Amino acid sequence: MTEGTPALRLSGIVKTFPGVRALDDVSFDVMPGEVHALLGENGAGKSTLMKVLAGIHQPNEGDIFIEEQKVVMRSPLDAKAKGVVLIHQELSLAEELSAAENIYLGELPTKSFGRVDWATLHEKSGAILERLKCSFGPRTIVGDLSIANMQMVEIARALTVDAKAVIFDEPTASLTDAEKVVLFDIIRDLKARGVGIVYISHRMDEIFTISDRISVLRDGSYRGTLMTAVTNEEEVTKLMIGRSLDLTRNVQPAEMGDVAIAVQGLSCGKMFQDISFEVRTGEVLGFYGLVGAGRTEIAETLFGLRTPSAGQILIDGEVVKINSPMDAIRMGISLVPESRKEQGLVLGMNCKDNMTLPQVGDLTAGPFVSDGAEIAIFDQYRDKLAIKTPGWREKVGNLSGGNQQKIVIGKWLSMRPRVLIVDEPTRGIDVGSKSEIHALIRDLAKQGYAVIVISSEMPEVLQVSDRIVAMFHGRLMRIFSSQEVTEDSLVQAISGLNTDRVA
Ligand SMILES: Nc1ncnc2c1ncn2[C@@H]1O[C@H](COP(=O)(O)OP(=O)(O)OP(=O)(O)O)[C@@H](O)[C@H]1O
Ligand SMILES: [Mg+2]
Repeated sequence: MTEGTPALRLSGIVKTFPGVRALDDVSFDVMPGEVHALLGENGAGKSTLMKVLAGIHQPNEGDIFIEEQKVVMRSPLDAKAKGVVLIHQELSLAEELSAAENIYLGELPTKSFGRVDWATLHEKSGAILERLKCSFGPRTIVGDLSIANMQMVEIARALTVDAKAVIFDEPTASLTDAEKVVLFDIIRDLKARGVGIVYISHRMDEIFTISDRISVLRDGSYRGTLMTAVTNEEEVTKLMIGRSLDLTRNVQPAEMGDVAIAVQGLSCGKMFQDISFEVRTGEVLGFYGLVGAGRTEIAETLFGLRTPSAGQILIDGEVVKINSPMDAIRMGISLVPESRKEQGLVLGMNCKDNMTLPQVGDLTAGPFVSDGAEIAIFDQYRDKLAIKTPGWREKVGNLSGGNQQKIVIGKWLSMRPRVLIVDEPTRGIDVGSKSEIHALIRDLAKQGYAVIVISSEMPEVLQVSDRIVAMFHGRLMRIFSSQEVTEDSLVQAISGLNTDRVA
């Protein structure tokens, strides 16, 4: 695996941005037919390294070699022509165009007089979508697709050339388990064809499933490469963050107060039916289930984004009607939504303004927003969440993906809600910051918030929750206390195998 000619090799790469040394003398290689995982904390430089490779950034120093031939990547299309394709962390599609046009963007097949050859375009892109087992056709407008399907279009784009190397930058962040299986099949297929794969993810389980070697970046520096078969999560984590993590379960019961929010017999059409639960101040209630079990829809109903078809919501024991997010916010409910797209970050705006956006009204002193107060809030949550940025003036768009996620969490926390709902709070967040966010969620409960955490990661729900709601196909199967829950019983409940309901 480590002998022979690498499909690609990076040597001594340095990349700086104003105020940031994003990459400091990084060397890295990928063999043909190898899946090489790239790991590092949020902001470590993973995406930047791959953008250098894919011709989006020019390095300040260092060289790129393809099959030991030195190359310069002038642009993404140039890199693609040389056999390197990057599947972006942030989706970069033209939403008003069709899937086919996106797949061949910049290189549409043409007939005489430069006219687009639509028949060929649709045929070729249709074949790729089929290979990816996509349920939509080449003519579908990308803006109408789900985020997961947009991701598939990104992947389809990479398959139009005979690539020597394909880079996946956190490809599974918005995929369901079934879509993940398809993705892993695609990766194995590329591998079998001798393509070198770079795989970036914060999910250790995925990395240990799919990779042959693991390289680690820390603060822009190369920390080493490990063979997946002979290493373990602990060793990798240590290399990544310089310490081991304490991944214990939450078994200490919280000190609980009154019921802050309760739902009784809540239903929403086909999305979920007859849901009843309550959350006390000081409590973290976890929601666990497969994608599509109805968890996000319940959260959206509590936040006024969906209208229930039956049942009621009570706040402090009073039945309330929540008709809009404005109503919800007024009643002290905040929702950190699951997908980055809906999180309302303004990428061109600075970090501070993004974080304090929803509460400008509160901080206004007369007609002027107090800059000092906003900066103080930003500083507080930057420290609490360990957000990596040169300062509050930095544009959010320049932050690494995980740090953008932290800005969103900070934004909702800084509104000091009574009931905080977080949907997949640590998706795309590195293991070190993940445990910080878990500690923060516990801490918020201690401070008297009622917290609902929706997660598809079992270790996460086990770690943060006082009680865990298991959902299956829109139904509440069982509510576990953290003392009684076991991994097996939880898996059974979310698979619909356990029907004895205990509240
Ligand atoms: N265009 C840019 N302008 C200024 N700074 C940038 C730019 N792109 C990246 N950075 C900075 O470079 C550093 C590395 O960012 P990068 O996106 O490579 O991190 P990452 O390892 O991919 O993190 P994540 O896991 O969160 O995606 C960060 O400090 C980031 O803020
Ligand atoms: Mg990244």
